[in-house]
Amino acid sequence: MTEQLSAPSLDFLAEQIAALLAEPSTSHGLARTLRAAVKEIEISRYHYTSSRAWPNGRIDAAPEKVQIGGGAHRIDGFYNIDAVPPADLLWDIREGIPLQDSTVRVMFSEHFLEHIDYPRSVKHYAREAHRALAPGGRLVTGVPDAAFVLRHYPGNPALSEEMVERWYAKRDCLGDINTFLDLINYVFRDQDDDPTYSPHLWAYDLEKLTQVFAEAGFESVEPWAFDPTIANPKRRWGSIYVIAMK
Ligand SMILES: C[S@@+](CC[C@H](N)C(=O)[O-])C[C@H]1O[C@@H](n2cnc3c(N)ncnc32)[C@H](O)[C@@H]1O
Repeated sequence: MTEQLSAPSLDFLAEQIAALLAEPSTSHGLARTLRAAVKEIEISRYHYTSSRAWPNGRIDAAPEKVQIGGGAHRIDGFYNIDAVPPADLLWDIREGIPLQDSTVRVMFSEHFLEHIDYPRSVKHYAREAHRALAPGGRLVTGVPDAAFVLRHYPGNPALSEEMVERWYAKRDCLGDINTFLDLINYVFRDQDDDPTYSPHLWAYDLEKLTQVFAEAGFESVEPWAFDPTIANPKRRWGSIYVIAMK
């Protein structure tokens, strides 16, 4: 594990950034970067607290079913690990998976992988998932399907409307995000300047997902048949899921 900034250092940094953000002379470009830093500081604070409780990077419990980056979407019987609340454990997965070796039967994530940096954190995550899974264990991963949007470009207007409706209906951005290429941009970067949403850092299709998990040592990687008792039903449309077997 990398050494964490201490809580007092984070507090100091957060105060300095808040002061800069409040200054009218702070440029738009600097403010964008500072807002991203504010999000990272929040994640670091939670991670710092948890890593003090589990200094060797492994929790005592050995849950058999684990969801990574589930946000508000809880799954019955799954232990949830996320960078921010609500979750059973707040942990920055880029620092590793805080679970003991060969203990997990099923690990699940959807619309999480594209939010961590490729290659460093994605490859680290795949290796860590392989380590934590028991022999025969399964890792299910769902992400926005880049091949889906690229296949439909140049888009038919009805499909653009459906995508806006499904992905953006709750957001106040329809004046700006409404063409087919805007929607391709969504898959590749999301709204990277919106304080509510985290950017997408890499895009995936079946070939890329298969490569990531095969390289990490998984025996097989296959498309996963969407199961709405586990996955978030709103993610079904326009996503791709794979199951990797250890
Ligand atoms: C777009 S949300 C998806 C939430 C849920 N899986 C769903 O499909 O509705 C991405 C989730 O990944 C979590 N996440 C992002 N980066 C993370 C990190 N480094 N460590 C742990 N969780 C992270 C976020 O906090 C958020 O809950």
